[in-house]
Amino acid sequence: MKKVKTRNLIDIKDLSKEDIDNLIKVANDIIKHREKYSHKCDGKILATLFFEPSTRTRLSFESAMLRLGGKVLGFSESSSSSTAKGETLADTIRVVSGYSDIIAMRHPKEGAPVVAANNSLVPIINAGDGGHNHPTQTLTDLLTISREKKRLDNLTIGLCGDLKFGRTIHSLITAMSRYDNIKFILISPDELKIPDYIKTEVLEKNKIEYIETDNIEDYMDQLDILYMTRVQKERFFNEADYQRLKDYYILDNYKLSKAKKDLCILHPLPRVNEISTEVDEDSRAKYFEQAYNGVYIRMALILSLLEVE
Ligand code: NCD
Repeated sequence: MKKVKTRNLIDIKDLSKEDIDNLIKVANDIIKHREKYSHKCDGKILATLFFEPSTRTRLSFESAMLRLGGKVLGFSESSSSSTAKGETLADTIRVVSGYSDIIAMRHPKEGAPVVAANNSLVPIINAGDGGHNHPTQTLTDLLTISREKKRLDNLTIGLCGDLKFGRTIHSLITAMSRYDNIKFILISPDELKIPDYIKTEVLEKNKIEYIETDNIEDYMDQLDILYMTRVQKERFFNEADYQRLKDYYILDNYKLSKAKKDLCILHPLPRVNEISTEVDEDSRAKYFEQAYNGVYIRMALILSLLEVE
């Protein structure tokens, strides 16, 4: 397994394009020959420290380590850890990094993974920090796009929903902006538009073409990828705004009627109402495959950060 040049994965930019190509290659090989990998992490321990709710990310990390022959420990809510007694993140990490070989952490505070990395004896993987970044979801997305489209360049990508607080969106735009001939259609209500720093520091800096709209149907016929997202309830300051915006987009068969035959529909999940369940039967719906792919790319990432041959 080729080593990635970073010790931690905090931001998707910690990985070069070559690192990502390599992780995708290994994940594809794991999908084909899973038994070859089943003892690669014998004797290793992954700690999953989740200070925020999760189903897929935490369980796919745990499944990944178990499928590699390793073991897992951790907590799935901060109320069951000593954080509830007032322990600092730095102290928690200093201790848990002595109990494990690698740590996947989700935290509501943006930037918390940097504090963790500065206090850890072992590699830290950011499994989502507030409304900021979610690099391993992006690796999952890239693996899925490359398997479905056989390329990561020459794509028109529609991103729809909560572009303001959606951390998966921020990491995905950052990653895709490094490939050739990428165009984004950014579909959101006015209140949930992409943050300015993503526009200036990522899109404009890399001269990426993008259009902002609040209409999901206007550009449907141009899209190669449609990435739907949930309105991030937990990041809202008031319930009334959430209630007003939560069902702004509901993708259904009617809205898809103008879409390309080979559109790829993605969603990091969990879904609330953004995709009608009737769409699940459409062969272009790939969000459950995307969730399965999360295990394989995380297996590749663990192997790489632990420098397993
Ligand atoms: C996403 C997250 O946590 O940011 N979920 C995930 O990891 N698959 C998306 C979301 O919660 O809406």
